[in-house]
Amino acid sequence: MFLLVWLAVALSLSSTIVAGGDCPGAHRNMTMEAACREATATAGEPMYQVCMHALGDDYRAGAVKEAYLFAYGAAWRAVESYGTTEGWAQYVLGNGSLTGDEKAAYGCVAGGSYREAEAAMGKVTHRVGLDCGLDLSDEYRTALRDAEACRDRLAKLPPSPLLTMVEKDYNSTLLAYLLGKLLGIK
Ligand SMILES: *[C@@H]1O[C@H](CO)[C@@H](O)[C@H](O)[C@H]1NC(C)=O
Ligand SMILES: *[C@@H]1O[C@H](CO)[C@@H](O)[C@H](O)[C@H]1NC(C)=O
Ligand SMILES: *[C@@H]1O[C@H](CO)[C@@H](O)[C@H](O)[C@H]1NC(C)=O
Repeated sequence: MFLLVWLAVALSLSSTIVAGGDCPGAHRNMTMEAACREATATAGEPMYQVCMHALGDDYRAGAVKEAYLFAYGAAWRAVESYGTTEGWAQYVLGNGSLTGDEKAAYGCVAGGSYREAEAAMGKVTHRVGLDCGLDLSDEYRTALRDAEACRDRLAKLPPSPLLTMVEKDYNSTLLAYLLGKLLGIK
């Protein structure tokens, strides 16, 4: 709920203040292809595809935007997706049939680590939307570490839809971080 409030605040303020103003790379105008190419240069072709797929949901091919909008959108999408994944884990847990390691792994997503990741990336979304925030690398890393922790626990269990969702969230978080680096975030 309050994530939507953040979005509303970010959108309403963006017309009155210089959004992304603190970051040196925030206002570079780039095509989404160039943003993906540059952001994923060291991460490899599969990550480029992840990037094109993610940004392609929001933009047309060849769309030119200021770089901070790509970083903002990617962070926002990650937070949104955590919520969906968390809801699914809670739903399955609520069924009451999970025990032991399985219950613990779902709990990682349903509350524990995911809650922390959501708070960290929520802060990223807020800051990138409003003033950039060159000091956000700890938040990106926290979210990555949390998604990774849950992914590793789920990966030890038989394959599940939740594992795929968490792998996707991990990718989304990494992509958000890589696009954040375009702005100058370390
Ligand atoms: C990018 O384009 C916007 C207008 O769409 C402009 O306000 C901004 O100054 C441009 N950024 C750079 C670095 O040229
Ligand atoms: C809930 O549990 C029942 C049996 O206990 C099972 O058949 C069903 O598939 C479960 N649903 C989910 C969403 O896990
Ligand atoms: C995550 O990204 C990797 C590339 O880094 C890709 O190979 C994999 O299919 C992605 N996983 C999901 C679930 O999207």
